Amino acid sequence: MVNMARALTLLSLSLLLGCAVSSTNNSLNYDVLQYIDPLIGTANGGDVFPGATLPHGMAKAVADTNSESSQGGFTLDGSNITGFSSLHDSGTGGLPSLGNFPLFPYAKCVNDSIDGCKYPKKERPVSFDNASVIATPGYFAVTLATGIKVDMTTTQHTSLFRFQFPNGDPSDSPLILLDLTDLSDSRQDNATVDVDVSTGRMTGSGRFVPSFGSGNYVAYFCADFKSSAGIRDNGIFVNSRATADAKSLKISRSINGYPLPGGAWVRFKPETDSTVLARVGLSFISEDQACSNAEKEIPDFDFDGIHSAAVSAWKEKLSPIRVSREGINKTLLTNFYSGIYRTMTQPQDYTGENPLWESSEPYFDSFYCIWDLFRSQMPFLTLIDPETVTKIIRSLVDTQQHLGWLPDCRMSLCKGYTQGGSNADNVIADAYIKGLTGGIDWEAAYAAVQKDAEEEPYDWSNEGRGGLQSWKSLNYIPVQDLDYIGFGTMTRSISRTLEYAYNDFAISQIARGMNKTSDAEKYEKTSTYWQNLFKADQTSFMNGTDTGFRGFFQPKYLNKTWGFQDPLMCSNLDNSGSICSLQNSAGETFESSIWEYQFFVPHDMATLITMLGGSSTFVKRLDYMHDKQITYIGNEPAFLTVYQYHYAGRPSKSASRAHYYIPEYFGTTPGGLPGNDDSGTMGAFVAMSMMGLFPNPAQNVYFIIPPFFESVQYTSPLTNKTSTIKTVNFDAEYKNIYIQSATLNGKPYTKSWIDHSFFTDGMELVLTLGRNESSWGTHAANLPPSLSTQGSSSIE
Ligand SMILES: *[C@@H]1O[C@H](CO)[C@@H](O)[C@H](O)[C@H]1NC(C)=O
Ligand SMILES: *[C@@H]1O[C@H](CO)[C@@H](O)[C@H](O)[C@H]1NC(C)=O
Ligand SMILES: *[C@@H]1O[C@H](CO)[C@@H](O)[C@H](O)[C@H]1NC(C)=O
Ligand SMILES: *[C@@H]1O[C@H](CO)[C@@H](O)[C@H](O)[C@H]1NC(C)=O
Ligand SMILES: *[C@@H]1O[C@H](CO)[C@@H](O)[C@H](O)[C@H]1NC(C)=O
Ligand SMILES: *[C@@H]1O[C@H](CO)[C@@H](O)[C@H](O)[C@H]1NC(C)=O
Ligand SMILES: *[C@@H]1O[C@H](CO)[C@@H](O)[C@H](O)[C@H]1NC(C)=O
Ligand SMILES: *[C@@H]1O[C@H](CO)[C@@H](O)[C@H](O)[C@H]1NC(C)=O
Ligand SMILES: *[C@@H]1O[C@H](CO)[C@@H](O)[C@H](O)[C@H]1NC(C)=O
Ligand SMILES: *[C@@H]1O[C@H](CO)[C@@H](O)[C@H](O)[C@H]1NC(C)=O
Ligand SMILES: *[C@@H]1O[C@H](CO)[C@@H](O)[C@H](O)[C@H]1NC(C)=O
Repeated sequence: MVNMARALTLLSLSLLLGCAVSSTNNSLNYDVLQYIDPLIGTANGGDVFPGATLPHGMAKAVADTNSESSQGGFTLDGSNITGFSSLHDSGTGGLPSLGNFPLFPYAKCVNDSIDGCKYPKKERPVSFDNASVIATPGYFAVTLATGIKVDMTTTQHTSLFRFQFPNGDPSDSPLILLDLTDLSDSRQDNATVDVDVSTGRMTGSGRFVPSFGSGNYVAYFCADFKSSAGIRDNGIFVNSRATADAKSLKISRSINGYPLPGGAWVRFKPETDSTVLARVGLSFISEDQACSNAEKEIPDFDFDGIHSAAVSAWKEKLSPIRVSREGINKTLLTNFYSGIYRTMTQPQDYTGENPLWESSEPYFDSFYCIWDLFRSQMPFLTLIDPETVTKIIRSLVDTQQHLGWLPDCRMSLCKGYTQGGSNADNVIADAYIKGLTGGIDWEAAYAAVQKDAEEEPYDWSNEGRGGLQSWKSLNYIPVQDLDYIGFGTMTRSISRTLEYAYNDFAISQIARGMNKTSDAEKYEKTSTYWQNLFKADQTSFMNGTDTGFRGFFQPKYLNKTWGFQDPLMCSNLDNSGSICSLQNSAGETFESSIWEYQFFVPHDMATLITMLGGSSTFVKRLDYMHDKQITYIGNEPAFLTVYQYHYAGRPSKSASRAHYYIPEYFGTTPGGLPGNDDSGTMGAFVAMSMMGLFPNPAQNVYFIIPPFFESVQYTSPLTNKTSTIKTVNFDAEYKNIYIQSATLNGKPYTKSWIDHSFFTDGMELVLTLGRNESSWGTHAANLPPSLSTQGSSSIE
């Protein structure tokens, strides 16, 4: 009794204190930027762009290295710097993207002769001190081994570089060159550059090739220089020789593979403490537009002003989510907010910079690739930046209206390669279900996704779906299909069947919402076609030993007889040299195994669980796949499998799996990402997992696990309402990661999932945690919805 009374006194005291503290020192009112490390993912194949950019900005300034893995421009892997360029993509696979028109500085040329500087990219790499690298939102800095300090910031279409030359000989005359090249040496014929003799302004353009797609694109630049000493001379260079006598250059690609080096240079009068500002305007429309972008956005070369505007833009974008930092290792906060940050570097807003068609709609580019983005990044952006997602959807629909098809991948104004299904359908359905409006023409959006399902494009390597005749007659994609309507790589019959089925489910959801009932029923039916590739007696042997599981997807021929693919082929364990990507000789599953794809039925897990033998064997399969490392969290198909325990009534296992992968596979070092970030897809996986609500994309479903923080607060940018997730018995060592009970707005809540209204309507979810699994979320009525059970799954 005494203890009880004392406890009560303490409780009320702490409540009082809690009030007093929060009114004077709101612990959620902290600066998020301190937890953002853009260098995460700059080694070990993360391919992250770590430089200066605005949210979704087109100008992306950073140092480029000569790494084999320079997809994002800069790497921290011992490579050297070849230049400083202003267009980049982040986290991509494929070849390095963009990186056009790099600048490169010399404090002086040998013998004060312009030929005493090295012009070709292959001859000029320079090392740098790792410790000199500073990367923060809107800012990047590095000091070269030559002593030149370079830092940079950006506006939407313009970079501002600051070159601070070392204090050398008073007669040193610094030179900056601009190279008509890109990261992947893809320049085509007839790039040009012109230098203005009096101002040193360089304008020009080049035609380049996209890194994972078809066609080519032209980029334009307009570079201006500002130095107090003034310009000494300027000119052009070709290969290793320069001249001040020519001010214009048009250059061919040349016949030797590596495009002939060429560009322009400007030399500055000697000055002690010499600093040169270089403003590089970019455009995909014209040189004039590149110049006007630069003049409008950075009229007076005010580095600090531009930098602080970029910082404010990031602060504003990052404002919706705050967490309790109580007891939390800073490393985890860095992991969380850096992941969030990376979701907002791209897709990139190229509105006003689209040369391909006239439109007043927004234009976004760098969807790299939607096959990845749909799984976590787009649903996350719908929470943190719904206004941008609305514009992205409008842009996708506008793109479809002008080019005929929605993209699955799109970069540098070009069509990108399709990896599986028409996954823009999933993105559009996700936005529809979550109620985005803001000027989206939903009838047009519906027509666009329906076309994916109904009409086969001639070139389905770049858009839409292949094999639709077989899909409609046989109700699966056959291995070695006969397809004379359209053309693409005739592989991936299993993963394409599974993805097409899910794409159709996505379409059915939009149809339901729009009261297109017969369409809804039709696409719900075709969304069950995945079942046609399920071979109930299929076994899987690992190193000659039966795994014991029966029933896997298998390839099926046109004549309806089964083919065979080892369920472990293309898995993380497959080191037999299997070909698993877009090659003609690749397998029937894309970048992953039948073992992993067996779980890709996001819309009807109840039927899948039944077909796999019931929930307890289903859980054993999922455990087996994760524990034996058949799956690898560094590729996106793994994401959903972390959470699919929820469908078997075991939400606690999803929670422990999330902790198994984070932070073990997602660290805060440069090599901390397990694979390509793929835009910010890995970042969004981390962010949503740590928030404790992970999406089933294209469904109005978020799986509940305990957040990695004692509480999470989210303010909807659409409604301004604040939602919170609070925990009771939180421990920062993550022993109490099992939900014992929950309340939503004060009432008991037993479902293991929640819908999007949680985020828009300002709700409060309180999770009481414990050390052991409980019965919370385990009953049939608690499970996330499945198509076949109209809202609840059955468990044995
Ligand atoms: C108040 O805020 C400061 C700065 O954020 C922090 O260092 C301090 O610990 C806080 N004090 C309390 C009592 O929360
Ligand atoms: C810089 O860091 C990279 C990656 O950790 C390492 O490979 C390289 O050797 C380091 N360079 C120096 C000069 O320490
Ligand atoms: C980088 O430059 C340093 C110093 O010139 C050189 O030792 C090193 O081999 C270079 N590394 C690469 C990857 O080019
Ligand atoms: C610099 O001048 C010296 C002495 O005249 C000469 O030997 C050397 O080759 C010159 N170097 C270059 C790069 O011009
Ligand atoms: C490049 O310029 C040359 C010489 O003016 C011209 O013959 C050729 O057609 C041009 N090529 C392209 C692709 O514009
Ligand atoms: C925070 O986490 C890092 C990385 O896991 C670890 O090295 C460090 O010791 C932790 N710090 C504390 C205070 O626990
Ligand atoms: C669909 O029908 C329902 C019921 O009649 C109605 O409430 C809803 O507004 C309709 N939705 C649309 C998009 O027409
Ligand atoms: C299968 O055998 C190979 C070669 O003996 C071995 O390296 C590998 O670890 C084994 N795989 C599993 C999953 O046991
Ligand atoms: C079906 O087609 C496959 C592949 O061409 C062939 O191997 C198989 O024998 C055929 N089966 C029947 C029953 O015709
Ligand atoms: C949300 O707040 C912003 C800024 O205070 C305001 O402009 C906007 O109208 C508000 N929106 C709603 C739906 O209340
Ligand atoms: C949790 O389970 C373990 C083993 O099943 C048991 O020993 C322990 O008492 C349980 N702890 C709680 C807090 O129920």
